[in-house]
Amino acid sequence: MMMVCTSVPHESAPLHVTGRAPYTDDIPEPAGTLHAALGLSPLAHGRLISIDLERLRAQPGVVAVLTADDVPAENNIGPLAHDDPILAHGELRYLGQPVFAVIATTRDAARRAAALAPQVIQAEALPARLNALEAHAAGEYVVPPMHLARGDATGALARAPLRLQGEWQLGGQEQFYLEGQISFAMPQEGGTALLLHCSTQHPSEMQQLVAHALGWGSHRISVQCRRMGGGFGGKESQSAAFACVASIAALRLGHPVKLRVDRDDDFLITGRRHPFHYRWDVGFDADGRILAAEVDLISNAGHSADLSAPVMARALCHFDNAYWLPNLSLHGYSARTHTQSNTAFRGFGGPQGALAIEMILDSVARRLRLDPLLVRERNFYAQGQDITPYGQRVQELHAQSLAKRLSYSSHYAERRAEIAAFNARSPVLKRGIAFTPVKFGISFNVAFLNQAGALVHVYADGSVLVNHGGTEMGQGINTKVAQVVAHELGVPLSSVRCSATDTAKVANTSATAASTGADLNGKAAQAAAQVIKARLTSLASEKLGSARVSFVNGVVHGNGRNMPFSELVRLAYLRRIQLWSDGFYTTPGLSWDKDKLQGHPFYYYAWGGAVVEAVVDTLTGETRILQADLLHDVGASLNPAIDIGQIEGGFVQGLGWLTSEELVWDTQGRLRTHAPSTYKIPTANDCPPVLKVELFGAANSADTIHRSKAVGEPPLLLAFAGLLAIKDACAACGPIGCDPPLTAPATPEAVLRAIDSVAV
Ligand code: MTE
Ligand code: MOS
Repeated sequence: MMMVCTSVPHESAPLHVTGRAPYTDDIPEPAGTLHAALGLSPLAHGRLISIDLERLRAQPGVVAVLTADDVPAENNIGPLAHDDPILAHGELRYLGQPVFAVIATTRDAARRAAALAPQVIQAEALPARLNALEAHAAGEYVVPPMHLARGDATGALARAPLRLQGEWQLGGQEQFYLEGQISFAMPQEGGTALLLHCSTQHPSEMQQLVAHALGWGSHRISVQCRRMGGGFGGKESQSAAFACVASIAALRLGHPVKLRVDRDDDFLITGRRHPFHYRWDVGFDADGRILAAEVDLISNAGHSADLSAPVMARALCHFDNAYWLPNLSLHGYSARTHTQSNTAFRGFGGPQGALAIEMILDSVARRLRLDPLLVRERNFYAQGQDITPYGQRVQELHAQSLAKRLSYSSHYAERRAEIAAFNARSPVLKRGIAFTPVKFGISFNVAFLNQAGALVHVYADGSVLVNHGGTEMGQGINTKVAQVVAHELGVPLSSVRCSATDTAKVANTSATAASTGADLNGKAAQAAAQVIKARLTSLASEKLGSARVSFVNGVVHGNGRNMPFSELVRLAYLRRIQLWSDGFYTTPGLSWDKDKLQGHPFYYYAWGGAVVEAVVDTLTGETRILQADLLHDVGASLNPAIDIGQIEGGFVQGLGWLTSEELVWDTQGRLRTHAPSTYKIPTANDCPPVLKVELFGAANSADTIHRSKAVGEPPLLLAFAGLLAIKDACAACGPIGCDPPLTAPATPEAVLRAIDSVAV
């Protein structure tokens, strides 16, 4: 039986659905466990004068209060630039910044004391910059501006027969992992070592940052994560503040310390998807072919660099999406503001880059009164026009066939005609339809991060334990890696298990991010399994008397005879043959010049396409997605059921970003939308009543694990078609050729504004 390319259930499915899957907060608390809570800055910008520690220490249940002065070594959680303090020191940089930590006997006592922050923090308010455009005007950036150029954009713009300019804004997005940020630190060996349970996509970085904060070698700290209740990029770098505070407190007090953040505090403390603002200038011909574009992309990075530089780099490298853009000049500015530090979120800047060209193409099509699908097709990468602005050749040109297949299967043309007829007779409800493609580069832009390790143990009874550097956040990496190992060793999936990610097992791991988890760790685990299989094969050949042996479903065959895999393993053990191995994988052929933004940053591309239909109530601005037809490229899927789940989840999460999830800060810099009461993520009810998902089906032309493709992030971009369908419906309120200035998220207010400005 094939173990890969099979829809086996997620390894934790029964535990998930019965509520028995243990998350970090479910780990039994040893006697003496203390709880931490964070006191947050009440100001968006200020100079810290003092903290009334005596008052905090006098609160019921409080055991200790920690400030920046209690950080034993480096007070930093900045993953790239060392510019982000664990606890505020001197300057208050955003409203919600952790200033002190209260450690108490119960979580409730800790939170009650921490809530006194506005009373106990004495600070001088300073002018706060809350707006990214103001920061841009003042030249305030967290990293130097980045430029990606090809050809002669200025000249080609001047020569273009037609030209359009515009400005557009796109909101941020909260990761809203259902399990909030949490760390549980347990001193070991009389306080000379530390075990940290942390809900994180990046155990190795937590290990390093905690080590730096403590002034320890990494070998004294092990970080474990069995599973997360979602990460979505929010637990790449931003689990560090909680990891560091819990660790410092645990070692200081000699007790286990747990820090589980309340949802509202999680919103106030951590950053999210970068909001972007665009200023664009595009030149094109009468057929809608793009000749040149110059675009400023201004992101709101928040108060520190965090991952803003690589997020902007990915935005710039995804601006082309599926299109050949001969002359291009992109400028990326990561503006510094006094808000939470923005970070990774599914797509990592890619969506913010690609959506910009989709909005521009939509405006071009409306200006020319052409079907936007036709304009898109005319601009697709094609033979001879297949080099990206950053110099990489696009090996597979799937956009054409995706668009063709999808427009046929979704009846795009018929439905467009039918929608026009509906709109002509419907004064209040207006419908719209849109197609958008996706081309998403797979690999970390930074070449060295594309490495992974795994350990495979075959026990003497023939059962198999796998440990790899990836983390499980619901996306099914452990299921896929177990499938790969079961396939390699020819054993049933039931005899393979993946254990918790642990920095004490596989060292120096990369974040489970950039959708590369299964690609990298699957290959590493395969390599480990192959080493063991080679050793077992020699023994099997000898025992079965055949040079050719095969391992199938727990039985080893050769020479017309066979023996159970477990029997072979037992004999191997008695022969003193090593039954476990490590495996290591690095993605081949990558190069990247991060100053020039040129090279071959991606091993391959994942493709997709969506046709989405929406209806708008023009009196209230409310919208509904009526139907979505998704066609997505996962190569030869390792597990179609899991991949379809990722496509559906990514799409609906993208719809939430672009329609209902609105972040509002008041003039004081206080995030007003910091709970589900005010911040609206999509629910099951927001899932379109007709949602069809099809897998594209072509094997990956790159040599990935069983020719599969990464699936974690790319499907989020399929939701672009939802936003553009809503825009299309708004356009039905105005004259032919009008271009409604719909911003994202397309909340009812945004929809009404767009309609008002085009309605006749
Ligand atoms: N799926 C679930 N259920 N939960 C998550 O947190 N994170 C997404 C995606 N799918 C996420 C998810 C993000 S941001 C990434 S980068 C990938 O999963 C990471 O996992 P992978 O590399 O194994 O696909
Ligand atoms: Mo995903 S944003 O790369 O964690």
